[in-house]
Amino acid sequence: MTRCVLVTGAAGFIGANFCHYWAKHHPADRLIGYDLLTYAGNPASVESLTRSGQLALIQGDIVDFDAVSAAFNQTQPDWIVNFAAESHVDRSIKDPRAFGRTNVLGTQVLMDAARELWGATPEPNKRFHHVSTDEVFGTLGPNDAPFSESTAYAPNSPYAASKAAADHFVRAYGRTYNFPYTLSNCSNNYGPYQFPEKLIPLCLLNILEGRRLPIYGDGQQVRDWLHVHDHCRAIDVILQTSPLGESFNVGGGTELANLTVIDQLCHIVDQAFLENPGLKQRFVRSPMANSVASRELIEFVRDRPGHDRRYAVNGDKLTQALGFSAQQNFAEGLTQTVHWYLGHEPWWRGVLDGSYRDWVREHYGDKAHTEPMA
Ligand code: NAD
Ligand code: TYD
Repeated sequence: MTRCVLVTGAAGFIGANFCHYWAKHHPADRLIGYDLLTYAGNPASVESLTRSGQLALIQGDIVDFDAVSAAFNQTQPDWIVNFAAESHVDRSIKDPRAFGRTNVLGTQVLMDAARELWGATPEPNKRFHHVSTDEVFGTLGPNDAPFSESTAYAPNSPYAASKAAADHFVRAYGRTYNFPYTLSNCSNNYGPYQFPEKLIPLCLLNILEGRRLPIYGDGQQVRDWLHVHDHCRAIDVILQTSPLGESFNVGGGTELANLTVIDQLCHIVDQAFLENPGLKQRFVRSPMANSVASRELIEFVRDRPGHDRRYAVNGDKLTQALGFSAQQNFAEGLTQTVHWYLGHEPWWRGVLDGSYRDWVREHYGDKAHTEPMA
């Protein structure tokens, strides 16, 4: 029988990449997206899939039990992959309760609805994969060993706390109800379709528009960068081969200070302008339109409260148990990402000017409860 895979948060950054990945690598599966289409959910990111019938996208809130249950009963998913979340640390500092609601209660609702659908003794082909973050482990000093699966949880931001709480509920449902789960904690993702509130797309689009590049504090905070396509592959491997009840760290093996990332980004954009003179006409406010280096836009600004200094991920368990390791070299992945944004201007213009919100309202109504942050 055809397998049905239901992806929550399918119109967000990683969810959309995952749907493209899944449609390509598992074309025989029935693919369902379930997404509230908040400010971060963009149906344009999966439009080619919905248009071709490879993905059915349902608009709904993961916190709404009746809506989730109705979607589950209608589509009968075998696998549920939970990406839906409020995902931005800065927003969580401004509005922490929205994060408790979606990330904690939403995860519980999904699991309760899945328990109702699958019954007390789920068939062996049923599983729920929960996507979490390395931020649940807190912060590292410069010489500390990278996070492993046994590192104690010590979240520092409201976002990280909400993800940590959800992870605990997932584990507890596994122990208490024999709930068929797997879980992964990944590092910072980058790649196509990322909403321009996160460091890399924000700074890239700021360069193209000639706006300042806001570097928090001294810019020496370290993140481990994982290409989103590597992340999708990792989840695929876990879904296909992991025993139930296991959690895995997923890292990119590339620890870099924020300032180094932005320096590399500036360099790649400058090179692109040198190689393609047409970019000067397209992006007249960009420094390179006047032969000025992009890094001139860097501005050090007030630090984020509670800003974690360093994340680093030990992915040995995933490599040793399931044979996965990240393949994308960061410099190449970042260059491809820059060229993806340069080649998809209508996508990000739609996000920046809000025109995709009008499209969402026209096609899906006005259910989303969050709006872009000023
Ligand atoms: P995103 O913000 O780009 O997308 C989130 C998606 O969830 C959006 O499509 C949004 O509409 C949807 N959503 C939000 N609230 C919802 C609700 N109540 N009901 C249904 N849908 C809702 O996030 P992302 O970067 O794609 O992250 C996906 C997952 O991966 C999240 O769980 C996040 O915590 C985790 N993660 C992300 C990163 C990263 O670097 N982006 C790193 C580690 C973990
Ligand atoms: P972000 O992309 O928000 O991801 P996270 O907070 O989940 O790691 O930020 C990545 C790093 O970049 C983090 O150390 C904060 C920093 N940062 C800036 O310096 N300036 C910015 O404008 C943003 C959005 C982030």
